[in-house]
Amino acid sequence: MGFPTIRPRRLRRTDALRKLVRETSLAPSDFVLPLFFDANLSAPKPIASMPGVFRHPVQDAGKIAAELKARGILGAILFGIPEKKDAKGIVGLDPNGPVPRAIAAMKGAVPELVVMADVCVDEYTDHGHCGVLHTDAHGQIDVDNDATVEILAEMSRVYAKAGADIVAPSDMMDGRVGAIRSALDSDGRQDVIVLSYAVKYASAYYGPFRDAADCAPQFGDRAGYQMDPANAREALREARLDEEEGADMLMVKPALAYLDIIRAVRDASTLPLCAYNVSGEYSMLHAAADRGMISLERAMLETLGSIRRAGADFILTYHALHAAEVLGA
Ligand code: PBG
Repeated sequence: MGFPTIRPRRLRRTDALRKLVRETSLAPSDFVLPLFFDANLSAPKPIASMPGVFRHPVQDAGKIAAELKARGILGAILFGIPEKKDAKGIVGLDPNGPVPRAIAAMKGAVPELVVMADVCVDEYTDHGHCGVLHTDAHGQIDVDNDATVEILAEMSRVYAKAGADIVAPSDMMDGRVGAIRSALDSDGRQDVIVLSYAVKYASAYYGPFRDAADCAPQFGDRAGYQMDPANAREALREARLDEEEGADMLMVKPALAYLDIIRAVRDASTLPLCAYNVSGEYSMLHAAADRGMISLERAMLETLGSIRRAGADFILTYHALHAAEVLGA
């Protein structure tokens, strides 16, 4: 009867025991794949800073939808690269733009696929900011919040009309969730879901995405609209406001440096919650694995598991197809 009498390791003795007491699950149905559709392409083009990620021609959308279905992935979130950009991102309202066409093709090929459209002007503005610019009362160039909200509401209508199940505003303007909800409702699209990028930080981890979507700001940064990484209480306020404006789901972005925020929002809201495992988080694992420093597959599953454990119901991740393949094996 020697010490210790309590031995937690008893529960770790076999694989079956470990599975029986596992607290967090990870399955292909937990992942949503971000996709880039480029109006200028006729063949997929690799994104140099994101190994294994491509910009796709719109004509491949149906084929990609079928591939997701085959792997057990239930959803995708779409970003567009237009032929030409402009100061206000008006080109993003074109019903024949890459995103509306890809939405229609994906829904046509796999009707049950949950198709989400990222709603933001940064992919469509020539200056790369997430809003229309103006000179504010202090003589500073700033995004014009309310003028931008009008464009975002219009963009949501276009994507909903093309067949999107979910519109996901990623701009961080104030009041856009309410404006989008009423625009959709006035079009009779009460069923279209609003997934708010409610808590989005001004993060260095978006670096490779700006390369992927060709949307790096041409001057300044996004600190005037995205959140300060130092703040946690503010995240709860943003989440609560978006919930009050009618958001159906919330997102925290990025994921890894903000696992505490995912947990805090999870505990504060009853809405479904997702997290965006962003481009820099993806590319870091690949860079370390390419140098033989870590096992890509193990680090990928551990990372995705940590985001689920923090409280995310699902994860937007560029690893989606690879992770589904590993989990299915
Ligand atoms: C803005 C948007 C960004 C991402 C998703 N939507 C870029 C930004 O805010 O700079 C980043 C996603 C990623 O890094 O994977 N439309």
